[in-house]
Amino acid sequence: MADNKISDAPKYELSLINQGLSDRGLRSQSSPHCSHLSFLQVLLVFAKEDSQSNGFCWACEKANFRCSMARTPESALECFSEKHHDLVIIDHRHSRHFDAEALSICMLTCVLFLRPDREEASVMPLINAGFNRRYVENANMMACYNELLQLEHGEVRAQFKLRAGNAIFTALEQSQEAIEITSEDQVIQYVNPAYESIMGYQKGELIGKEIIEVPKSEKNKPDLLETINSCIRKGKEWQGIYYAKKKNGDSIQQNVKITPVIGQGGKHKDRRKGSLDVRSTTSRGSDGSSQRRHSSMARIHSMTIEAPITKDGLRRLSGNEYIFSTKQPHHIPSHLITPLSLNDIPPRIAQTMENEDSWDFDVFNLEAATMKRPLTYLGLKIFSRFGVCEFLNCPEATLRSWLQVIEANYHSSNSYHNSSHAADVLHATAYFLCKERVKQSLDPIDEVAALIAATVHDVDHPGRTNSFLCNAGSELAILYNDTAVLESHHAALAFQITTRDDKCNIFKNIERNEYRTLRQAIIDMVLATEMTKHFEHVNKFVNSINKPLAESVKSVLTSPENRILVKRMLIKCADISNPCRPQELCIEWAGRISEEYFAQTDEEKRQGLPVVMPVFDRNTCSIPKSQISFIDYFITDMFDAWDAFADLPNLMQHLDNNFKYWKGLDERKLHSLRPPPE
Ligand SMILES: *[C@@H]1O[C@H](CO)[C@@H](O)[C@H](O)[C@H]1NC(C)=O
Ligand SMILES: *[C@@H]1O[C@H](CO)[C@@H](O)[C@H](O)[C@H]1NC(C)=O
Repeated sequence: MADNKISDAPKYELSLINQGLSDRGLRSQSSPHCSHLSFLQVLLVFAKEDSQSNGFCWACEKANFRCSMARTPESALECFSEKHHDLVIIDHRHSRHFDAEALSICMLTCVLFLRPDREEASVMPLINAGFNRRYVENANMMACYNELLQLEHGEVRAQFKLRAGNAIFTALEQSQEAIEITSEDQVIQYVNPAYESIMGYQKGELIGKEIIEVPKSEKNKPDLLETINSCIRKGKEWQGIYYAKKKNGDSIQQNVKITPVIGQGGKHKDRRKGSLDVRSTTSRGSDGSSQRRHSSMARIHSMTIEAPITKDGLRRLSGNEYIFSTKQPHHIPSHLITPLSLNDIPPRIAQTMENEDSWDFDVFNLEAATMKRPLTYLGLKIFSRFGVCEFLNCPEATLRSWLQVIEANYHSSNSYHNSSHAADVLHATAYFLCKERVKQSLDPIDEVAALIAATVHDVDHPGRTNSFLCNAGSELAILYNDTAVLESHHAALAFQITTRDDKCNIFKNIERNEYRTLRQAIIDMVLATEMTKHFEHVNKFVNSINKPLAESVKSVLTSPENRILVKRMLIKCADISNPCRPQELCIEWAGRISEEYFAQTDEEKRQGLPVVMPVFDRNTCSIPKSQISFIDYFITDMFDAWDAFADLPNLMQHLDNNFKYWKGLDERKLHSLRPPPE
C-alpha cells in the first residue's frame, strides 16, 4: 500500500516494535511495585553496524536488557520466532535493504518516533503497517537509553498487562466453575461457558442486564441478598450457601465466595463461588444429580470492566497471538492445562521431580515450576510409581482429571494449607510406604488408600482451625456438631468430588467390596489427622505395635487392627513431618503455618471472637519458641516411635538439627524465622 511513501520517508527512521509472548505480563501484574522488568528482550534489526546501532546496544546493556542483533529480515524473523522479543527496533533508514512493513506484518505492533521536521502524514503508512513509534536518528547513547526506558515503562508494560488480562480471561473461559462478572452497579458484564451450561442461559440473555432482573430462587432466606450486598459494600468477602435459579426454574445450591477487588479506578468487587460443598448433598434441590455435578460457580464484580466483555472483544483487544492456546501450555497462567500423560510432563518440571523418592526432595521448586500445581504433577508421578491406576483399573486420564479437580479444591490463598502442603504430605507418605517394615505390614490396597488419603486429606481447607470454625458458628461446624469438623469435611468432600463425575471417578472400575474397603481406609486415615486424637493414636501405636515388636511378636505386623494403626501413624507423621525436613524446607513451612495462624488471630480480633491461639499473634509471636513447643509437645515422641518402627535415621537427624536451629534463635532472643543478615 504505502510502500512508495515509506521508501521516500526520512533519511533516518527507526521503528521500534513491541512484541513478545513471554509470561511476564502476569508477573509484572502480580508485583506492580517492581520498578524494572528483568531481562527485557530486545531485537535490533540493522543492516550494518554504525553509531546508531551501537548506541542502542550500549543502551540495552545499561538498562540490563538482553539484546540480539539481526542483519537481514530473514535472520530477524528467525531470531524473533525463537526468542519472541519484547521490543524490536528496525533500522528504516535504508528501506531499499529492508522492507519494514513486511517485517511488521509478522511482528505486530510497534513503536514509531516522529521526526520533528516531517509532516504528520508520513507517519500514517507506518502506523497502518502496525508500527507505533518512530525514532529520529540520534546516536547519543543517553537518548537511546531514555528511549528504551520510556518504551519499557509505557508500551511494553501495557502490552504485558493486556496479555495478563487476556490470559486470565482465557482461563475463565476454560474454567469448569461458572463465573459471572458484574460491574459495581451489578450489571452483568460477562459469563463464562460453564456458567451458560450450568445455568441454562445464553450469555446474550444476561450480559447488560442487572442482576436483580435475573429470577432468584425462593429458597434463599429473604434477607440473604441484603446480607451479601452489605458485606460487599464494606469491602469484605462473603462466603456461604446460595441458591441460584436456572433458566428452567430449577434451584441449585451453590457454595459462594464473594471477594471485593480493589484496582485502578476505585473499588472493585470479585465474587467467587467455590467448589461443591458437602452441604449440597445433605440438602438437595429438585434435580439432585445434575445439581451435585454443577453446584460450583463463581461471580466476579469488577469496576475495571466498563463495557461488556466477550471472548471476541478480548481477542480484539490484544490480538489473537496473545491468546494462550493449548500449543503453548507453559503460557497458561493457571492450573488449566496439564500434561496428557506422564510422558508429556515438560522437562523443566520433570527435572524438579527427579529425586521425588528422596526425603530431601524440594516441593517448593516443584510449586514454582508448575505455577502452583505441585499436587497434580507429583501425584501423576507417584501414583504411577506405585501402580495406582493398574490397581484401580482406571485410565491415566481419569487419574489426571481427578488430581486436577482435587488440587483445584485446595485454596491457593491459604499460606499453609494449600495444595503444596498436600503434595508434601503425599511425598512423605510415599516415602514411608517404601520403608521395609511398612511394606511388610501393609497390603497393596493399604498403599493405594494411603496415597489417596494423603492427596485429599486437607481438601477445601479454609485456612482456619476447627476451634475457629466452632467459635464462629460456621456452617461446617454446625453440620458436624463441632466434632472433627474439618477432617470430616475433607473426607466427605473428597468422595463427593470423586464420584460426582465419571471423568474423574478413579473408583469407577473397582468392585463394590474393594471400594468399600478402600473408602473405609481412606476415611479412617483422613480422620486420623485430627490433632485432638494425637496422643490416643500415638499411644495405641506404641502399645499395640512397638512394644510387642520389641518382644519379637511377629504376627503384630499383619493383624487387620494393627494395619489400621500403622496407616494412621503413617499419615499422621506425614502430615506433620515439617520439622524433620531439611532445614531450609523446615523454615519455609514454619513461616507459612505461622502466617496462616496469624491471619486467623487477626480475624478473631476483628470479629470479636475468642482468640484460640494467643501465641500466634503477629505482634508478639516468637516463631522459634512456637516451633520448639510444637516439637516438644507433638513431634519428638511420635517420631521416636515411628523411627523405632520404620527406621528413619535421616529424619531424626534433620529433626535434631532443626530443633537446635530454633533453640539457637531463641537463645539469641530472636522472634523471626531466620537470624538477621550480618
Ligand atoms: C501456598 O502458599 C504460599 C504462601 O505461603 C504461596 O507462596 C504458594 O504459592 C501457595 N501454593 C499453592 C500451590 O497455592
Ligand atoms: C449431630 O447431632 C445430631 C443430634 O445428636 C445427630 O442427629 C446428627 O446425626 C449429628 N451429626 C453428625 C454429623 O454427627
